[in-house]
Amino acid sequence: MSQLTDGFGRSFPYLRLSLTEACNFRCSYCLPDGYHADGRPRFLAVDEIARLVRAFATLGMHKIRLTGGEPSLRKDLTQIIATVARVPGIRKVAITTNGTLLPRHLPDWHRAGLTALNVSVDSLQRERFHAITGHDRLPEILEGIGMAQALGLQSVKLNAVLLRGRNDDELPAWMEFLRERALSVRFIELMRTGDNGDYFQRHHLRADVLVEQLHAAGWSLRPRAADAGPAREYTHPGYRGSIGIIAPYSRDFCAGCNRLRVTARGDLRLCLFGDFGVALRPLLQSDADHDALLARITTQLGLKAAGHGLHQGRTGLTPHLASIGG
Ligand code: 5AD
Ligand code: SF4
Repeated sequence: MSQLTDGFGRSFPYLRLSLTEACNFRCSYCLPDGYHADGRPRFLAVDEIARLVRAFATLGMHKIRLTGGEPSLRKDLTQIIATVARVPGIRKVAITTNGTLLPRHLPDWHRAGLTALNVSVDSLQRERFHAITGHDRLPEILEGIGMAQALGLQSVKLNAVLLRGRNDDELPAWMEFLRERALSVRFIELMRTGDNGDYFQRHHLRADVLVEQLHAAGWSLRPRAADAGPAREYTHPGYRGSIGIIAPYSRDFCAGCNRLRVTARGDLRLCLFGDFGVALRPLLQSDADHDALLARITTQLGLKAAGHGLHQGRTGLTPHLASIGG
């Protein structure tokens, strides 16, 4: 039985661990001017990550998602995957990546124990993809996705941030893409962060518009699994793939929250849009602090709030998602 529960009956079998704040993309809604380091940040090292993941696994956590920034920019990523995958109790090791390094590294990551892959693909049109991310890399990313399927990864999901006037007419193209591919594509409603206020005003679109189009095309909502994340998943008998909708502004979004986050500097964040982080790093320096680490994590969970303050325009500490992991 997991000890990772909060005061609202939610349990947290799932940790999102950011490995770096750096990114090689310039997504218009996240890092439009690219990543600029402040000072010389030192992100969690492999031994710190090992202690952290052991603590969470002791508390019943069984899935770790490695995020960023762009986690594949870590030179030691394969070693990190292998380290995490070896921790007793960890059954799933997932990564969220922009996919540029998949063709080069995916076979190594897979051998090291990677079980699931999420790749950002904001448009299926090369020109648009270039305009949104600042990089003309769609062909190799699609190649990497094909490779993941050929390797037989347990789960392959694609993320597209829904953007008014940029990619909001692509649902039919995505359906075609999914006809013969056993993948899930998830449309994420644009979230307002500390830095993207103007962009948000111009390009935010409620994900409900897609739900109407899905119903009209004969797709139906799959019953929600008990341990499912925030996506509502739609399927259709004529298609091998599925389509998910992630709508952070919808009423029940926070009720289904099943994840905790740790930043690349070792702060525990209870909510993507929370107002505070809790430093775990001082307790990651020695195996002797294992019990103190467990105590700090469980105490903090008692403080997790029922929901985010986005509806009131409060974005908390998050300037952009590269700083915390999407
Ligand atoms: N709103 C919604 N999704 C975002 N992502 C990054 N920033 C935002 C935002 N402001 C997405 C990325 C990636 C995932 C980890 O989060 O595109 O797919
Ligand atoms: Fe990089 Fe992801 Fe932000 Fe795009 S959304 S700039 S890929 S961290």
